[in-house]
Amino acid sequence: MKLNSEISGFYKLSLEERQKLLSKLSSLNAEEIALLNNFGYFEPRQMDTLIENVVGSYQLPMGIAVNFKINGKDYLIPMVIEEPSVVAAASNLARIARKQGGFQSEEVKSLMFSQIQVTQIKDINSARQKLMENKKKLVKIANEHDPFLNELGGGAIDIEMREINTRNGKMLILHLLVNVLDAMGANVVNTMAEAITPSIEEISGGKVYLRIVSNLATHRIARCRAIFDKELLGGEIAVNGILTAYEFALADPYRAATHNKGIMNGIIALTLATGNDTRAIEAGAHAYASLSGSYKPLTKFDTDSGGNLIGEIEIPLALGIIGGMTKIHPMARLALKILDVKSSGELSQVAAALGLAQNVAALRALAMEGIQKGHMSLHSRNIAKIAGVPDHLIEKVAKQMIEDKKIRIDHARVIFERIEKK
Ligand code: MEV
Repeated sequence: MKLNSEISGFYKLSLEERQKLLSKLSSLNAEEIALLNNFGYFEPRQMDTLIENVVGSYQLPMGIAVNFKINGKDYLIPMVIEEPSVVAAASNLARIARKQGGFQSEEVKSLMFSQIQVTQIKDINSARQKLMENKKKLVKIANEHDPFLNELGGGAIDIEMREINTRNGKMLILHLLVNVLDAMGANVVNTMAEAITPSIEEISGGKVYLRIVSNLATHRIARCRAIFDKELLGGEIAVNGILTAYEFALADPYRAATHNKGIMNGIIALTLATGNDTRAIEAGAHAYASLSGSYKPLTKFDTDSGGNLIGEIEIPLALGIIGGMTKIHPMARLALKILDVKSSGELSQVAAALGLAQNVAALRALAMEGIQKGHMSLHSRNIAKIAGVPDHLIEKVAKQMIEDKKIRIDHARVIFERIEKK
């Protein structure tokens, strides 16, 4: 029977009712229904309050990247990711960076801003002037909507103005800057922006439409640097390979996208582990990569006088250690405990270092032996597992698949049967 996905009131059903309906519509068997009911460390009801139309939960592995020394402090970095080799690669490069002192990360300010779109202004210059004169008053109104943040030392601090030309005419875009302290900050800045809207309309004579955080968090930039020892990297040939890979990314947006994807392998794994908003981080990173007008790599490379590789990363990172999922998700709480970061800025410093390590690891592998070699041994173990090979034979079957250059489930079964017959 053809499926009809038009289901009214699915969200109104109880979790059990939704599961039941889904099982019927998608012909789920008992084993699959049991999978839906495996909520792990979550209370099913708790899941049901997080998003709509919940039918189950979804687990991913959490690994720990080791060897990281950032600003003289050692870190264990939890990473939630499904891709083999990523955690090992970051740990390996962090070990190499240690030889020259580890990573040096600059302080990251917790400044976020909400954009306020003011349209239909008759005289932009005069509106701008009036808004400028009333800036203090607007900031004060914004702060009245979060006295707690003020008490803690944060709050709205300034308003920036930009004029943009659009197909619907000129618009004045206000950026309400807020020190959000240890939060990611989207909720705070959005609330404040909504609170000052009536005053902005009154002062400017314009009509406000959107009031929303910008994920291009250019006031929350993380900068990190490390020196990667030439010998440990694999000598001059490895350093030159990485520099040549970097030139490729600088000159070609098709390559820069993949280069930056490698960086995000690390940063997103940490973002997810700590219950932060992965989409916001991705959006900000890629927008920042294109701010010059063409898409560029988020890292830079050079060498020092000893021929060691100097790597640098610069990326907007709106990460929080309070609010959102960071305190609700038990694994996010645990991840933050393992990380032992004292502020959102410190978390961003760690994320930047991880992104840099991840990038160098990928470039080194690509420039030297190629990425598939490392990937394949883990991948082939996964395939052997999926093929139903018992644990004690996985290594053997995986190795044979690599030798045969056939990393496939059917081939894993063939090898396994051959071993069994012996
Ligand atoms: C794969 O997840 C990431 C890489 O493609 C990154 C890169 O090409 O730099 C290996």
